[in-house]
Amino acid sequence: MPAKPPLTDRFGRTHTNLRVSVTDRCNIRCFYCMPEENVEFKPRHEILSFEELIRFARITSEIGVNKIRLTGGEPLVRKDLPDLIRELGKLNGIEDIALTTNAVLLAEQAEALKQAGLERINISLDTLSDSTFFRLSRRRGIDKVLAGIAAAQQVGMKKIRLNAIAIRGLTEDEILPLARFAMERSLELRFIEFMPLDAEDNWGTQAVLTGQEIRQILENEFGQLIAADRPDASQPAVDFHFASGQGRIGFINPVSEPFCASCNRLRITADGRIRNCLFSIEEWDARQLMRDGSSDDEIEQLVRDCVTNKNPAHGIDTPGFERPERAMYQIGG
Ligand code: GTP
Ligand code: 5AD
Ligand code: SF4
Repeated sequence: MPAKPPLTDRFGRTHTNLRVSVTDRCNIRCFYCMPEENVEFKPRHEILSFEELIRFARITSEIGVNKIRLTGGEPLVRKDLPDLIRELGKLNGIEDIALTTNAVLLAEQAEALKQAGLERINISLDTLSDSTFFRLSRRRGIDKVLAGIAAAQQVGMKKIRLNAIAIRGLTEDEILPLARFAMERSLELRFIEFMPLDAEDNWGTQAVLTGQEIRQILENEFGQLIAADRPDASQPAVDFHFASGQGRIGFINPVSEPFCASCNRLRITADGRIRNCLFSIEEWDARQLMRDGSSDDEIEQLVRDCVTNKNPAHGIDTPGFERPERAMYQIGG
């Protein structure tokens, strides 16, 4: 059988990277992602089963997807996640499976995740301080997060990255302590600009602490940052290291330096909607097709329709910009 054409959109971007949200639930309440109270989570029957997720991943793997990242909400609150990882790892064509987590439950699950074949994990770490953690996430738990990071290192995960949100007036004082923490443990640290995906509509351009500003703060303390190699042109982060060769620091600057032109990402939400962008207004309902007896070919066509309709860029900085209805926890980051 001839190979199927890849998932290329109208602007020539070929999609090989699938981000799968496995749940909209979370065990903390970061204000930049979720509402504080009365969160309406999807009922269980609206969430894709592992069988449905694996089927969807298989269909996309047959049209070029080779990388899968599991996200949430918080993916580790979904029961038996290692089983999903093991099954996804068996799919032909999937070369890389990674996880993005807040690490609150990581200490207890790291070993099982590693056993299931997980080698890459991105951990959200915005602060080292208990009080700031509480202010940002409205829950206690920094001790668990730190234990989770230690556990991931201990079980020998190959690649561990730390993600820190950057919000003006809130996270400036976290930059140097986080950089020292990461350097001491030989972990990669990335700063992520705040995007208009919070649930309570508090985002504004004035709240975006830019990667450039953070870079200056780091350089004032540690000396010049030197651009690192960029083996993957589609990766959101631009990476640096210090002149000493120590410390790898990345900047994800979707607001000040959008990287949409090289976007290769496709998303599926926990309730089975395909999205062609974090900021997508439209969604394509894969769950309905999976539950009404549609064929793999029909689902493949839905994925293609979604990719074909992708906009060239998010347009956050344009006058007509419209925020998506879903907040980050309902999309998966
Ligand atoms: P690796 O490169 O494999 O480490 O993964 P990643 O950086 O794509 O994954 P991660 O989940 O750690 O992404 C960190 C954050 O970067 C996400 O939570 C988003 O906030 C942001 N991000 C990732 N991909 C995109 C994207 O396609 N568009 C935008 N605007 N932001 C993104
Ligand atoms: N803007 C930027 N990044 C966000 N994240 C969550 N909400 C936002 C937002 N509004 C990121 C967090 C976390 C990842 C899962 O998503 O930094 O690391
Ligand atoms: Fe891709 Fe949308 Fe992110 Fe741009 S904002 S990089 S198009 S997901």
